[in-house]
Amino acid sequence: MAKWNTVNSLKGEKRDFSLNNNVENIPNRVQKKIGNVTIDIFCGLAEEYAKLLENESIHLIVTSPPYNCGVKYDIYNDKMDFAEYKKWLINVFSLLKSKLVSGGKIAINFPTLIRIENKRKILLSVFEDILTSSGYDIIDCIVWIKARDEKEALGVAGRSTGWGSWMSPTSPYIRPITEFILIAKKDGKRTLKNKSDITKEEFLTATVSSWFIPSKSDPSHPAVFPPELPERIIKLYTTVGENVLDPFMGVGNTMLACLKTKRNFFGSEISPNYISKALEKLNEF
Ligand SMILES: C[S@@+](CC[C@H](N)C(=O)[O-])C[C@H]1O[C@@H](n2cnc3c(N)ncnc32)[C@H](O)[C@@H]1O
Repeated sequence: MAKWNTVNSLKGEKRDFSLNNNVENIPNRVQKKIGNVTIDIFCGLAEEYAKLLENESIHLIVTSPPYNCGVKYDIYNDKMDFAEYKKWLINVFSLLKSKLVSGGKIAINFPTLIRIENKRKILLSVFEDILTSSGYDIIDCIVWIKARDEKEALGVAGRSTGWGSWMSPTSPYIRPITEFILIAKKDGKRTLKNKSDITKEEFLTATVSSWFIPSKSDPSHPAVFPPELPERIIKLYTTVGENVLDPFMGVGNTMLACLKTKRNFFGSEISPNYISKALEKLNEF
């Protein structure tokens, strides 16, 4: 097992970070076979992992990248200059495009709106621009509602309406319980070796543009999606035994979805602490 204690930062210089005892021996690449499912995890930069993956080997990319709004991640600094942030993501997604098979899909999850320096920014056009500038064709946009219905939505949103905005027509505060999933594709024709394993009901539900999936919080990570979200994307766009990549895998929710749906998982994450949590989950299988 390789011992390591530095990672390349976004600008390429070495960045030290403190290691907890439990992450000291984390190798920077783990490959495991669980039943027929291959799990390949890289602890490091997504852009470095891209160099290790075979060209045209991935059928679907499902991910939620950092949104550049100051989320307190373990080691990643989520507050870059916005132009630099966009440039970086365009570079990552362009590199990853060569790893996708012809007609392969990419599904990106992100919040509808972020607040930076007291200004609000709607992220849909930002990510549309990032994906088209990386060479993909946009094909769909799904709204993820983090509840099963309006009543549950109220519970998810909470009753805190923003200081000074209570029942005020001048500035009511809109409490976010939705996120977007933008789907794009690499050019070319997608070929299939196997038939889809999606059920009729799953297909009908997944092809409606609003998805009602309750969110889950996780004490070990500030910005997770529930495994049900990647699971729905995976069943819609891939077949059993195909390869799914999450370049910003966090604590491994796409990995869990892959294990459940019997797709091979490829993932990278910069934080050894998050990788350690993902490996803990893997040990349960
Ligand atoms: C929005 S979170 C993803 C959470 C994940 N969907 C989950 O459910 O656990 C984005 C992740 O990207 C990681 N990250 C940031 N820059 C990275 C890079 N260059 N390469 C790999 N991971 C990176 C962060 O540490 C963070 O965990």
